[in-house]
Amino acid sequence: MVIWEAKMLTDWQKSSLVDIDNYIQNELKNDFSGHDIEHIRRVVFLSQQITEKEQAINRTNYDLFLILVSAYLHDVIDDKIVTDTEAKKEEVSHYLQSLNFSDTLIDDVFLIIERISFRKNKEKKQLLTNEGKIVQDADRLDAIGAIGIGRAFYYGSNRKQPMYDDEKNSNGVIQHFYDKLFLLKDKLNTETAKMMAEKRHNMMVTFVKQFKSEWNEKTPFF
Ligand code: ADP
Ligand code: NI
Repeated sequence: MVIWEAKMLTDWQKSSLVDIDNYIQNELKNDFSGHDIEHIRRVVFLSQQITEKEQAINRTNYDLFLILVSAYLHDVIDDKIVTDTEAKKEEVSHYLQSLNFSDTLIDDVFLIIERISFRKNKEKKQLLTNEGKIVQDADRLDAIGAIGIGRAFYYGSNRKQPMYDDEKNSNGVIQHFYDKLFLLKDKLNTETAKMMAEKRHNMMVTFVKQFKSEWNEKTPFF
């Protein structure tokens, strides 16, 4: 079953999403920092789930197509992935034009994907549209819970970080939980994402507690 098989999408929108899935898979095929196609597809799926629940709760219609496209493209122009972000923006924009996207839709997509990154958002505090808030929540949900733990260690290994450094706390994957991952549940925009985050958050807390307790059990034999 294809994830976007929702009633709200037109045939053109569905076939565009199939094309974009292929495009992104190719764009990210050399990524080993936790932004691979599987992360992207999870964010797309979570975005769709959040949208459907939020629509039911708020009795408001969100632009599902804009949300799904933005979820697919949310990491592709990030400076963690590409060196020349302006050139990549041009390229992605031309690609969307080739799929017959209107200029307004392309602008709306860029408005979202340029603003959802944690770092950039913290610096500029830019406002997100309702659609952007959903994609941001989905991206943040994929950074926490069991998958979040997996991604943090995967990223840490990619950056040659130690797992834990209890003397210099600035370095090490465990520190990242305190710097970012434990804070995410309180930064979520939607009620739906907040509910989904609870189980994921609790499991990270349990994990770090157990990690530290095992770490401290090691006794030197010399
Ligand atoms: P995204 O752009 O998908 O929101 P990031 O690029 O910020 O995510 O990070 C990708 C993944 O790597 C996330 O799961 C994040 O928690 C993890 N990560 C980012 N920075 C660090 C770090 N310094 N140490 C460990 N994990 C990290
Ligand atoms: Ni992401």
